[in-house]
Amino acid sequence: MDKFPAQRRGTTSSAVFKSLLGAVLVAIVVSTSLGLSLSHNPLVATKVPINAAQIVQQCQALHVLPGPPKNFHHRTESDRYVAGTPPTLVRNATIWTGRVSGYEVITGDLLIDKGIIQGVGKLRKSALEAYKDLAVIDAAGAWVTPGIVDMHSHLGVDSVPELHGSDDTNSLKGLVLPWLRSLDGLNTHDEAYQLSISGGVTTANILPGSADAIGGQAFTIKLRPTEERSSSAMVLEPPYTLNGTHVDPSLPPRWRQMKHACGENPSRVYSGTRMDTIWAFRHGYDTARKLKEKQDVYCSKALSGQWKGLGEFPEDLQWEALVDVLRGRVKVHNHCYEAVDLDGMVRLTNEFKFSIAAFHHAHETYLVPDLLKKAYGKTPAIALFATNARYKREAYRGSEFAPRILADNGLKVVMKSDHPVLNSRHLLYEAQQAHYYGLPSNLALASVTSTPATVLGYDHRIGFIKPGYDADIVVWDSHPLTLGAAPKQVFIDGVAQLKTPHFNKKPNFFQRVPKTPDFTKEREAAIKYEGLPPLEAKTAKLDVVMFTNVNSVFLRHGEKVRESFSAAKDGDNGVVVVKFGVVSCVGTSFDCSVEEYGSDAQIIDLEGGSISPSLVSYGSHLALHHIDGESSTNDGKVYNPLKADAPSILGDSPVIRAVDGLQFASRDALLAYRSGVTVGVTAPSSSGFLAGLSTAFNTGSPHKLADGAVVQDVAALHIAIDSSTPSVSTHIAALRNLLLGNGEGEIGSLFASVVEGNLPLVIQVQSADIMATLINLKKDIEDRSETNIQLTFAGANEAHLLAKEIGEAGVGVILSPSRPFPGSWKSRRILPGPPLTRQNAFAVLAAHNVTIGIGIEEQWSARNTRFDVAWAALEANGALSREDAIALASVNLERLLGVNTPSRDLVAIKQGSLFDFEGKVVGVISPQRGVVDLILQ
Ligand SMILES: *[C@@H]1O[C@H](CO)[C@@H](O)[C@H](O)[C@H]1NC(C)=O
Ligand SMILES: *[C@@H]1O[C@H](CO)[C@@H](O)[C@H](O)[C@H]1NC(C)=O
Ligand SMILES: *[C@@H]1O[C@H](CO)[C@@H](O)[C@H](O)[C@H]1NC(C)=O
Repeated sequence: MDKFPAQRRGTTSSAVFKSLLGAVLVAIVVSTSLGLSLSHNPLVATKVPINAAQIVQQCQALHVLPGPPKNFHHRTESDRYVAGTPPTLVRNATIWTGRVSGYEVITGDLLIDKGIIQGVGKLRKSALEAYKDLAVIDAAGAWVTPGIVDMHSHLGVDSVPELHGSDDTNSLKGLVLPWLRSLDGLNTHDEAYQLSISGGVTTANILPGSADAIGGQAFTIKLRPTEERSSSAMVLEPPYTLNGTHVDPSLPPRWRQMKHACGENPSRVYSGTRMDTIWAFRHGYDTARKLKEKQDVYCSKALSGQWKGLGEFPEDLQWEALVDVLRGRVKVHNHCYEAVDLDGMVRLTNEFKFSIAAFHHAHETYLVPDLLKKAYGKTPAIALFATNARYKREAYRGSEFAPRILADNGLKVVMKSDHPVLNSRHLLYEAQQAHYYGLPSNLALASVTSTPATVLGYDHRIGFIKPGYDADIVVWDSHPLTLGAAPKQVFIDGVAQLKTPHFNKKPNFFQRVPKTPDFTKEREAAIKYEGLPPLEAKTAKLDVVMFTNVNSVFLRHGEKVRESFSAAKDGDNGVVVVKFGVVSCVGTSFDCSVEEYGSDAQIIDLEGGSISPSLVSYGSHLALHHIDGESSTNDGKVYNPLKADAPSILGDSPVIRAVDGLQFASRDALLAYRSGVTVGVTAPSSSGFLAGLSTAFNTGSPHKLADGAVVQDVAALHIAIDSSTPSVSTHIAALRNLLLGNGEGEIGSLFASVVEGNLPLVIQVQSADIMATLINLKKDIEDRSETNIQLTFAGANEAHLLAKEIGEAGVGVILSPSRPFPGSWKSRRILPGPPLTRQNAFAVLAAHNVTIGIGIEEQWSARNTRFDVAWAALEANGALSREDAIALASVNLERLLGVNTPSRDLVAIKQGSLFDFEGKVVGVISPQRGVVDLILQ
């Protein structure tokens, strides 16, 4: 790479050249006077290389730190401006600018043109009159924020739908590979670009994966399609090193980004240990340091005119990027979780004198803020998930309170997606949850806009709403910290991204910041217990518990959920009296008077909160796994009868029962309980085709022998048809054979029950083609047997394509994930919902009277079921009521999974409802166990 080709020599370089000659002359005088040059001809010593000026330039430039050129803010047009983009005026907006520490909100207008923001607030008429073809959007008071910036994404390199050609995230060619560049794998056809834009994401930092200690260089891109349709055209401020272009040498360099990873991932991939990984880092940094020192010696000679024998500038294409890290010109993004690893990295930064821009994932950072402050240079920012934790040892002590705790310690907090680990379309949801668990609203909004923009080094143009900044703007349908907030329009570089945006009317209180609950005690416990605070609920001491100040009460009536009390209808907040775990009075304080019950009752003020049926979780390994990534903590996988026979000791064609592998009191189960999910239904963990018999259990129980721990031994029979090994058609053939009564042993008798309609069959399937085949198969079998098979599709991303047929066939559907993602080819035809489509899959299936449930994929998210159901209902455009929303994760799910001993648990929510970021679950009312459990720290 030639960084400084000769053809671009400007005035600056000739001036440098003159001063260089002066330096050479001085050098000769000095050396002569010291008598050092006697042995050689001074005329030869003064022979200056032909490219001396470039060398001097290069040497002087070595110490220039990155940043925008001085005149950057005088620009009137963006380098990313798309010619022909109409100037746009967004009128009457409520603008969160990101300025003044995230406290500034301006009510007024926003003018964008030439790819940049031209005006914010009260705009002069004369300024507007200058525009002829001004596109005008009436925001009618809507919230507007800067575009969302995702600091940790693999969009385009770990692209979807997943195909063999689509994983360009990790190189396995070594532990230290600073010369690799994520841009070289950036697929411009990833289906997630459009989806993420529809969630308001405008910029993403595309990192290599974490298999290596140094995985390579990252590139920050804008997500919109470009006219050139190239990967390069997406890059924001491409570093000049990217294509070896020489630019005006007086310009400061642009920021570069690099991925580092410590701990488990690199150790695992290279079957080494943490010791090996840190050594690999030290060896790499030592190599870079030696090269840097050579360069510095070379340059001090060149700059003082000692040209003799100087030769070429020491350079090495493999190490130049790491040398740039040592020169403070690279933002280092360090995947690093545990105290032990953070400590190793902090030591490394001090040994080699470089700084880390951010620790990512960083699940233990909130426990060691003082350690983080010892890092060399600037204290690293911390990039986190909100509630995605406990999936491996490194994440086991993760806390939902980490963002707040870190902020309290003065650290910068960023919320990130790690897309496609989390679908970055919903990155804002991470900020919303961080806010719910205590991060102040100004910092929560900043955590996905201005803070990542600043950490990446692009705060001179993105992350804020300010004249002269890139026109990356989102107009929201509700306050961005409310559940389900969705864009009405997204601008990137001033170009509107949503052609025909669809949005729903939200309740009025969604236009303000949610009043989040107080989690002070929980936060303190997280620190006190080093991430493992006790989570068990405590049983109320008194037999009578009175919930006062109740705004609404929802109860189960058979297979429906109904609102039994509402302050709006009944005139005032009410009272719910519970005796021995059974609701004995619901009504006004007149109906259920304190005089009658109060003296012997424990009184709990719900502060305008509510009481609802508890929820059910299905779809993950809840209660079969403690830590997904740690096989020793899990039940393990069952055998796959399509691949091998079961060991004969198991008897004739055995079917495994999940109830036999239940493990109680996992942190995910207890957290689910504390969030109003009191029942889990889990099937054995399949390794293909047959999973086995699911079981229903109480998520709050301490062990299997406790009262009410196992709700139902056997719920349904589960199989999966989503693998192509052996072929999908082979899976279908096996299923047909079993349904025709040709199965042997236990499999045979269970399928006989399925055909008789006595045991529901739950099939994990995403593809509409496979679902269509299954509908035909069901009909064939039922025609022969004259029975009704209870069939449920779980997963069912593509079910909306067959809504009518699924409804007519009487098949139930569990949508999982509830917010669809085209992760694989067989699940790619999703109905994304607003703002891309008018309806979501829930609305379409409900219109065909399909019984719908909601599912999850990973157990950490069981606790978020309340938000999942509320969000599904919000996006269903009126097709689902609040009662229907609760039913998705209670009565419907039980029916679809064959749970015929329904839970009668109720949950008490303080200050709000299950459906918002205001309510907090404080109690579980259990008639079966005859108690009220209190969830208080
Ligand atoms: C701005 O929008 C709000 C909410 O729709 C409305 O009440 C107000 O009158 C509007 N103001 C202007 C200046 O249009
Ligand atoms: C190389 O990068 C520079 C700086 O981003 C850009 O202006 C130039 O167009 C690029 N050249 C080519 C050939 O891509
Ligand atoms: C759904 O059920 C309702 C009420 O039973 C009925 O009126 C409607 O026609 C049904 N819709 C479809 C598409 O079957």
